[in-house]
Amino acid sequence: MNTDDIPESSFGTHDTGPLDGKTIILGVSGGIAAYKACDLASRLRKAGADVHVVMTPHAKAFVTPLTFQTLTRNPVHCEQFGEHGEWKPEHIELAQSADLVLVAPATANLIAKLSTGICDELLGTIILATQAEVMLAPAMNPIMLEHPATQFNLGVLQNRYRYEIIPPDMGEMACGDWGTGKMASVDTITDMVVSRLMANRSLTGKQILITAGGTREPIDPVRFIGNRSSGKMGIAMADAAHARGADVTLITTVEVDRSYPVVVVETAQDMQEAVETEFDSCDALIMTAAVADYRPIVVSRQKIKKTDSDDIVLELTKNPDILDLLGHVKRKDQVIIGFAAESDDLLNNAQQKLKRKQLDLIIGNDITVPDIGFGSDFNAVVILTAEGTRENLPRMPKRAIADHICNWLANRLANLDHSTVAK
Ligand code: PMT
Repeated sequence: MNTDDIPESSFGTHDTGPLDGKTIILGVSGGIAAYKACDLASRLRKAGADVHVVMTPHAKAFVTPLTFQTLTRNPVHCEQFGEHGEWKPEHIELAQSADLVLVAPATANLIAKLSTGICDELLGTIILATQAEVMLAPAMNPIMLEHPATQFNLGVLQNRYRYEIIPPDMGEMACGDWGTGKMASVDTITDMVVSRLMANRSLTGKQILITAGGTREPIDPVRFIGNRSSGKMGIAMADAAHARGADVTLITTVEVDRSYPVVVVETAQDMQEAVETEFDSCDALIMTAAVADYRPIVVSRQKIKKTDSDDIVLELTKNPDILDLLGHVKRKDQVIIGFAAESDDLLNNAQQKLKRKQLDLIIGNDITVPDIGFGSDFNAVVILTAEGTRENLPRMPKRAIADHICNWLANRLANLDHSTVAK
């Protein structure tokens, strides 16, 4: 939902909207994107949230507390040990009152501190003390973002329970550099906050089986045939379904720490076995994994040595097509969703896979477009249904795409429940 679509006048004196009754702590750290946090504060308040801004000392170099105070109609908090006239420490009181802590912009420095739990100023202390959801919108120079230290810290936070990273966008930086590091747009952040807090539990009671990552087909103890899948799309699908109350099982080739069951597999055959074990009891299967179509016929027990010959022949045999097999045996009350990674003729190829594998839905992505698909935090997809409808989603965070697919799935499962009851 875009909160810009909600007319200002409809809020009256007390703003009401999708975030009505929600308390959001908006953390602002010291980067130039802090000026966008003013718009964000205003948008969240207009959407109905009670917004409390916490600024790091460096943030005050970019924007004044008075700006946020005026926009949110609440006092702004800056001091770790400020006097606020209450018996309870300020950081505990704020941390306990929040439904969500959103940090925008989140600088490399703040991200580093959060990843290790350093709390030498109020914002870090509140985040360590809260049990609310935490969303971080990083913003920094592309080289700083790419730095292994920052990537490591983001990885730690991404895998931390209740945390979500809103991926930074690509474009020209304030410093003149070009690349990925711009804070996500205020629209994107607002939409992601709204969907996170809307308490959409539309998949409660549903068993959803999701696959992620690329399978590895061993050649010898050292080498394998693999692909570029990072697992990000499948993990985003699993997180989105879990957030909607589903009982999620994730079958993945990429290790990930989550509160729902995660089964780690390596080969296509391992994945087939794990999926088939769970399939009967699931309401929906979402195959996001990039499964190898072929595997070596013989796996050498020793490392294959280099010889004098210039050529080496590796004989391959077909792997089972998990989706194809299950698409043909699924029950009427089950839903099967596939993904199609295409380098040409996306629409046609995706349509054929939808039909051939007897799927309910297929999500096609063009893996030749830079900065979407494999390895990226973003994707742009075409969604086709068995009924012949088609929807294009432009480039957006994988989690936003996953939320969209979960909405479709929740509707489909609700309709299936309804038709079963009606019989
Ligand atoms: O992991 P990321 O880095 O985030 O990248 C995401 C992604 C690009 C991997 C993802 O968006 C995607 O497109 N996944 C499907 C990749 C793929 O294998 O597409 P395919 O067109 O080869 O297969 C079609 C469908 O059949 C897929 O749902 C696949 O899981 C399934 N399949 C394929 C082969 C096989 N032997 N068994 C299968 O079940």
